[in-house]
Amino acid sequence: MLQRPVNLIQLSDCHLFADDASHLMGIRTNSAFAHVAAMVKDQEPAIDHILVTGDISQDNSLESYKYCQHVLSAFTAPFSWLRGNHDDMSGLGDAVHQFAPLFPDHIQIGNWVILMLNTQTNGEIHGLLTSEELDRFESQLVAFQEHPTVVAMHHHPVSVKSRWMDDIALRNREAVFTLLKGYPQVQAIIHGHTHQERDIVHQGVRVLGVPSTCVQFQPGAEGFAVDDRQPGYRRLRLYPDGAIETEVCRLPEGSWLPDRSQSGY
Ligand SMILES: [Fe+2]
Ligand SMILES: [Fe+2]
Repeated sequence: MLQRPVNLIQLSDCHLFADDASHLMGIRTNSAFAHVAAMVKDQEPAIDHILVTGDISQDNSLESYKYCQHVLSAFTAPFSWLRGNHDDMSGLGDAVHQFAPLFPDHIQIGNWVILMLNTQTNGEIHGLLTSEELDRFESQLVAFQEHPTVVAMHHHPVSVKSRWMDDIALRNREAVFTLLKGYPQVQAIIHGHTHQERDIVHQGVRVLGVPSTCVQFQPGAEGFAVDDRQPGYRRLRLYPDGAIETEVCRLPEGSWLPDRSQSGY
């Protein structure tokens, strides 16, 4: 068993393209992702695992997934992916199978377990956990009762107090919190989708949101609004006793500024 803390890196909402010149609201997402990855490499001396919590691709191209794989392969640490609402991989044909090992349903590192929940519901922007996924979740909570656990999902399971963003949250989120009451080994839920940092406690469970590796959304905005905060990632240090130390790291101020003329994404 690892006696040192596990160093888990969370990247999210990369929105990558086949073409490096393509951009999302004025930000060239492939380049921003590479810059965030370079910052991780620079700042993290020992990484146990890198987790990408969805919206890997913006154009659903094979090249965009290969680009993500290529950038992350430069690390010695293993990496895993979760699907986001933008990750409709149905058009990839047989090529989708090559990525299957990157979508595990759980990860074990030392004494810790990361449970990966698929909240993507085909063709929808909001998230949903199917009854099969909830059953699987419960059986894993039972199986790993003795292990401190992090639950990872793409959609946010708690309101971010932003109307447009809460309309596209995880729909059946109460099912998650009802279930978690019986499984105190869960130390935190980490999610993507909101493109903003957050650290709150909801019904006794710590819930952590992460910046996107490209465009940021403005916290608390009623309607769609981008933000000048910078792309970044979350570092989680998971201690053997179940404690978590975590911090968001961002690229230098003003490096990546969005085009504010766009009204949606
Ligand atoms: Fe996203
Ligand atoms: Fe999303």
